[in-house]
Amino acid sequence: MDRLLTILSDGRYHSGENLGKELGISRSAVWKQAQKISLLGILLESKKGCGYRISGGLELLDINLIHRQLSAAVKPLLLKIQLLSTVSSTNILARQRAEQDNASGWVVLAEEQTSGRGRRGKSWVSPYGCNLYLSLVWGFDGGVKEIEGLSLAVAVVVLRGLRLLGVEGLSLKWPNDLLYQNKKIGGILLEVVGDPSGYCQVVIGVGVNINMSGQFSGSIAQAWANVSELSDSRVGRNQLAGIIIDQLLLLLSKYKKTGFVGYKEEWLQHDAFMNKKVKLLMMNNSVEGIVRGIDNSGALILEVDGAVKIFSGGEISLRGFE
Ligand code: BTN
Repeated sequence: MDRLLTILSDGRYHSGENLGKELGISRSAVWKQAQKISLLGILLESKKGCGYRISGGLELLDINLIHRQLSAAVKPLLLKIQLLSTVSSTNILARQRAEQDNASGWVVLAEEQTSGRGRRGKSWVSPYGCNLYLSLVWGFDGGVKEIEGLSLAVAVVVLRGLRLLGVEGLSLKWPNDLLYQNKKIGGILLEVVGDPSGYCQVVIGVGVNINMSGQFSGSIAQAWANVSELSDSRVGRNQLAGIIIDQLLLLLSKYKKTGFVGYKEEWLQHDAFMNKKVKLLMMNNSVEGIVRGIDNSGALILEVDGAVKIFSGGEISLRGFE
């Protein structure tokens, strides 16, 4: 099916007969594969006398196009970029890789995730060929104290990467969601492998909705948006992947020195909830208050009944009021 998708990715009509010849299969086998492509959520048109086409085309991941976006400074930091057609979760794979060996600088991207994972045990809807799902591994020798605030800094550089491609109007929701008009456009999931007080590796998972079909709305429990809605020109998946990898490697190579403080102001400039009333959902309870910013470690400063309280930790979720 990968080969059929590659041929159809040009957006033009291809007759069943020609497709069969190119793939060395019968026309009815082409038809069967076409049905499978439709099940992936890809809009495949078939027209009598013309054949099949993917309306608007499809930009499949391409290692050369991704590499082209990397600056000379980050190339030595990169171990390898692995591209996969389908995977349970790029984070799971990256964790496995880090558990086996030192994988600092290893990156994996997939066209589709069958069990994409979000924060707080949620799933991340990850259909084929339309969004970005990537994970990057990085090693820190001073334990988890060196990664304080890192997930917020990652959100800052993902937003930077999108802005470099002309995508404006994005904001951040503590700790690390990317929003457009309060609808989620991207999310970040950090996981740590190894010794929390010695050498550990962080798996940084980034998901960005680029061009996901509305048919997936039923499976997503919150309002969401696509990058394609807010950019005049088409945002290339390979270009965005390359720019995000570039930004992440730059960030990671100096994070030990800068810490989160180096990213705090930029995070605050994009804060969607500054001075707004919010509700924080925790494991067993919730608290309401007014957002008063973040501190130097990336923890949330919340005014609760006139008193200032600080909240940190990956298991907290913030909700705004309309
Ligand atoms: C969130 O809940 O906001 C975090 C979403 C993180 C999704 C990305 S997609 C690539 C990587 N692999 C996963 O399974 N999850 C992360």
